[in-house]
Amino acid sequence: MLLELKNISVAYFGSFLFKRKPFFALKNISFSVNYRESVTILGESGSGKTTLGRLTVRLVKPTEGKVFLKGRNIFSYGKEYTRKVSMVFQNPREALNPRYSVWEAVEEPLLVHGIKNRKEIVEKVLTSVDIEEKLWFRKTYQLSGGQKQRVAIARALALNPLLIVADEPTSALDLSVAYEILELFKKLKHKQSLIFITHDVRMGTKVGEKIIILLGGRILEISPVKEFLEKPLHPYGVFLLNNLPVESPYKRKGNLKGMELETLRDEGCPFRINCPYNHEKCKLFPPERIVKVENGERRVWCWIYI
Ligand SMILES: Nc1ncnc2c1ncn2[C@@H]1O[C@H](COP(=O)(O)OP(=O)(O)OP(=O)(O)O)[C@@H](O)[C@H]1O
Ligand SMILES: [Mg+2]
Repeated sequence: MLLELKNISVAYFGSFLFKRKPFFALKNISFSVNYRESVTILGESGSGKTTLGRLTVRLVKPTEGKVFLKGRNIFSYGKEYTRKVSMVFQNPREALNPRYSVWEAVEEPLLVHGIKNRKEIVEKVLTSVDIEEKLWFRKTYQLSGGQKQRVAIARALALNPLLIVADEPTSALDLSVAYEILELFKKLKHKQSLIFITHDVRMGTKVGEKIIILLGGRILEISPVKEFLEKPLHPYGVFLLNNLPVESPYKRKGNLKGMELETLRDEGCPFRINCPYNHEKCKLFPPERIVKVENGERRVWCWIYI
């Protein structure tokens, strides 16, 4: 096992002057990522995806629980942690310094870590993300959105990390470019572990082997993608597949109703207001249920399985 999150909660407390009660962006979540495994985190806007991504690269600290990389608490590593886990952000413009050339953007992390054979590495990663040689010495601001994201991915790959965390890496791009970047992730996925964060069911199920369904800061289901597509266990998974968009992956037929952030973050199941099986019991979040399947296991948090 490479990465393990154990009983993680992340609360935001508001500003110093305007202290509010804590808002739990993530609540008691646990999962693991194996070596070279690709895991999709699927969730609506506000479900806690970015918080989760930032947690794995130590940009956010857990309020409760611990995160381990190779069995060691991630906050016990020094700066070498940034060599092991790197992140690709939604908007490549924010990840790239416009004054840098493509080459410099990819070389910088190697310089920071004092790595020697830089020329060879930069050439190799730029080639692996299909950036043509004629672009290598162009400034990053002169690139298209898709090219920028390729360079940001090359930069994340430069230190040969054990894990890449990509937070909605395609959602700032035009659809056709988004699909090209998706193909790139499919090509790169078994070279290291990958956490692919998305709100898009179609894209998410194309990249990951395992899917984690997040809503209101809670994990509702963890399943191999194949099994999830055949038969989601959680009623929210059923809702997601029934409402798959027809014409565009950015639209969908149905939307969650009456889901205020505050009610999503109470002690109950965040899907219950929209759930056909809503019951008194659902005011309390259910314990985990493990279902064995051929190639591993599925985990679901729903009272109908208890
Ligand atoms: N720094 C912060 N302070 C207070 N609340 C925050 C902070 N960052 C995030 N939140 C809240 O935590 C919840 C989860 O936010 P997060 O950005 O992790 O969600 P997300 O799933 O990435 O959403 P999106 O799809 O819109 O990117 C949201 O309700 C958000 O408003
Ligand atoms: Mg986000």
